[in-house]
Amino acid sequence: MQIIVSKNYIELCNKVANFIVDEIKELSAPLLCFAGGDTPTGVYKNLVKLDQSGRGVFNQANFVGLDEWVGLNDEDSGSCRFTLNRDLYRPLNIKESKIHFFEGKGNDYSKQCEQLNNFIENNGPINLALLGIGVNGHIGFNEPGSSLESVARLVSLDEITQNVGQKYFETEQKLTQGITLGLKQILETGVIILIASGLKKKPIIKELLTNKSFNPSVPVSSLWKHSNCHLFVDEEAFS
Ligand code: GLP
Repeated sequence: MQIIVSKNYIELCNKVANFIVDEIKELSAPLLCFAGGDTPTGVYKNLVKLDQSGRGVFNQANFVGLDEWVGLNDEDSGSCRFTLNRDLYRPLNIKESKIHFFEGKGNDYSKQCEQLNNFIENNGPINLALLGIGVNGHIGFNEPGSSLESVARLVSLDEITQNVGQKYFETEQKLTQGITLGLKQILETGVIILIASGLKKKPIIKELLTNKSFNPSVPVSSLWKHSNCHLFVDEEAFS
């Protein structure tokens, strides 16, 4: 795992956006996976600027969703899809046909997961993924105890995730379940970028960097098994 420490969030977002563009500019039709959540929003602003300055690196890209809250979809402010639509897909003018995402208000989650698993099987592996980290060490909604062999599935959310997740919404939500890509699909991704910013992430980053091997109760530690993973942190999150 390569570790890149930035002075602050602004510098981190700049570096990550430039890194992403450099990684994908030579690929003819990259398959990309970008996380929702608060941390990547500054990266997306920079990616949109870079794209508008004529790079056009996203013209041929396809996107797969990383995760979604069950019960919420693109119409719900604070959902993963809502955030990605607002910050990335819409500003980049990505066609709906290029976005392969979970529908959190669906009623057949196993069918949805099967479809996404088949899509990745046939069009993957994912070329590049940008991931955030939950304070409990989750990546996507791969909660503590997730298997290295896991693929897209419906999961019960950890109590910490249910509580922390309220920060995305104006009114209290029932956040008991999520849908997520699995650790297997994440670990098969060509390039992984993991980002963390702020003091709240300091304990989990310390845990990740102290025990440099896979611990099933800290899902993010599975990334030690990946040979092309880059951790971008700011000074506050870094120990
Ligand atoms: C959220 C999402 C993850 C995200 C992580 C960190 O609950 N499910 O995909 O990367 O937790 O979120 P944030 O960047 O808001 O701290």
